[in-house]
Amino acid sequence: TDRSHIRNFSIIAHIDHGKSTLADRLIQYTGGLTEREMSEQVLDNMDIERERGITIKAQTVRLKYTAKDGETYELNLMDTPGHVDFAYEVSRSLAACEGALLVVDAAQGVEAQTLANVYQSIEHDHEILPVLNKIDLPAAEPERVRNEIEEIIGLDASDAVMASAKSGIGIQDILEQVVEKIPAPGGDRDAPLKAMLVDSWYDPYLGVVILVRVIDGVLTKGQRIKFMAQGTEHLVDRVGCMRPKIEQLPELAAGEIGFITAQIKEVSQTAVGDTITTVKDGAAEALPGFKEVQSVVFCGLFPVDAADFEKLRESISKLRLNDASFTFEMETSAALGQGFRCGFLGLLHLEIIQERLTREYDLDLITTAPSVVYRMVMNDGSEQFLHNPADMPDVVKIADIEEPWIEATIYCPDEYLGGILKLCQDRRGVQKNLTYVGDRAQVVYELPLNEVVFDFYDRLKSISRGYASFDYHQIGLRSGDLVKMNILVNGDPVDALSMIVHRAAAESRGRHMCERLKDLIPRHLFKIPVQAAIGGKVIARETIAAMRKDVTAKCYGGDISRKKKLLDKQKKGKAKMREYGNVSIPQEAFIAALKMG
Ligand code: GTP
Repeated sequence: TDRSHIRNFSIIAHIDHGKSTLADRLIQYTGGLTEREMSEQVLDNMDIERERGITIKAQTVRLKYTAKDGETYELNLMDTPGHVDFAYEVSRSLAACEGALLVVDAAQGVEAQTLANVYQSIEHDHEILPVLNKIDLPAAEPERVRNEIEEIIGLDASDAVMASAKSGIGIQDILEQVVEKIPAPGGDRDAPLKAMLVDSWYDPYLGVVILVRVIDGVLTKGQRIKFMAQGTEHLVDRVGCMRPKIEQLPELAAGEIGFITAQIKEVSQTAVGDTITTVKDGAAEALPGFKEVQSVVFCGLFPVDAADFEKLRESISKLRLNDASFTFEMETSAALGQGFRCGFLGLLHLEIIQERLTREYDLDLITTAPSVVYRMVMNDGSEQFLHNPADMPDVVKIADIEEPWIEATIYCPDEYLGGILKLCQDRRGVQKNLTYVGDRAQVVYELPLNEVVFDFYDRLKSISRGYASFDYHQIGLRSGDLVKMNILVNGDPVDALSMIVHRAAAESRGRHMCERLKDLIPRHLFKIPVQAAIGGKVIARETIAAMRKDVTAKCYGGDISRKKKLLDKQKKGKAKMREYGNVSIPQEAFIAALKMG
């Protein structure tokens, strides 16, 4: 296609505002699928995909649209992952486009997630087209939401399309605006090849499939290509696009979005944001903006049943085939046996992986306290990074510990503001800004990431009855008075429950943990002390009373020597238990104890 007839765009929306439904509609309207295929084919495909274990990640469909001007256009619709944890992937998807549809639920209005993505989109110089979705709902207030878009985001929303993705209203208007308002891509077909690696996923039949945006030059089958950041070379064996069915093409030229395969076996061999060029006469310089993905949150995953360890290893390896952004290495815990220390992009990412392991691979898991990565400056001036509290060196050797901070934007109806401010304050937050739009407040806080990884999001949702939205990005490391808190059950530290905490918060967190564990650990035949300690100093303590089996009761005050014998026997039983440190801690206790309530 002639470049002037190409339009590349993505859809920006808050979760549940209708992004996927609108994408399906656009595909259907432009004839990518017939009504019958919509219900049959796509579903069938999905089943196969599920069977093959493919995640349907950010993907792109190519739509053919004949506009009112009589010309036929090639529209590349780029899907973007919808969560803060995947901010970098989102930024690359946006960098591959010239415009975006901003879908806002006309009954809900602008939300924090919408804002974060819009600002990114603006940074990429996108032409942004507002769409007021769900106007079929009786609760829709398109005029209020139109004002919100103008006031909060500062976009002209006077031409915003009133749409219902569900009922198919406004679909043609959206397509017309895409053609009219979004600029055609630039680029030079005759320059050396420069293509951006936007995303990749594993397909059992095709191998790794790579989604690319060609900036300059031409990508063709049979070409030898080079990944500039990775420094590796491959042979292109397929070039094509998805409509959404896979269609092979002779080439992808400057301005186009499509996919290639190059006999690559693992997703980890491809880096999102990398520049692809030709081995022969390649580009001298890579595209800007490449970043290596780094895990932000770490936790241990252990099988409840030690016999499941091999199964866990296999399952984790399989997941990793398709998701190079999480990392794992073996870990041995005194309390939990063998498992894995895993790194994730964020909490949601952690939950997704944990859920998939539980659901798809049918594993019962214990997840240890999530931890962020701390930077320690040692007394000898060297630096160390710590992502497992269990590995914390002796405090006397540490000169300084730094922890990651984030800037969080929370958006909520006014009535919940008090509770939310208190929550942020309790989590060592520093308020940066508070503004109002109508009856909604927008609060900006700086918070230590460590205070957010536990249950901040759950708390926020419960305080606001689900109305608050939350978005964050990292703003760097700051030193803090951080200490390692151990939890001792029956005198033995339970490594899975160790955590790094701020000294000021240690006592209340410790007390809370002990109280929780007291309720969560069943009574045993002996007394069980539950303690929180920093170094050798106990800062909180609870005791689980012994379950008293009154064995002498049957003896009716009979023969005293018999009574004594029985008591001795019982004591021995106790001693045995103690000897093996035989306290059974139920699985739920690990996660439940970490929630701060
Ligand atoms: P995520 O995939 O979670 O990010 O959500 P999304 O933004 O893709 O939203 P999705 O398309 O899954 O829609 C969320 C819900 O809103 C679904 O139950 C849809 O059926 C519904 N929905 C989408 N568009 C409309 C609409 O125009 N009108 C009404 N009434 N419901 C809609």
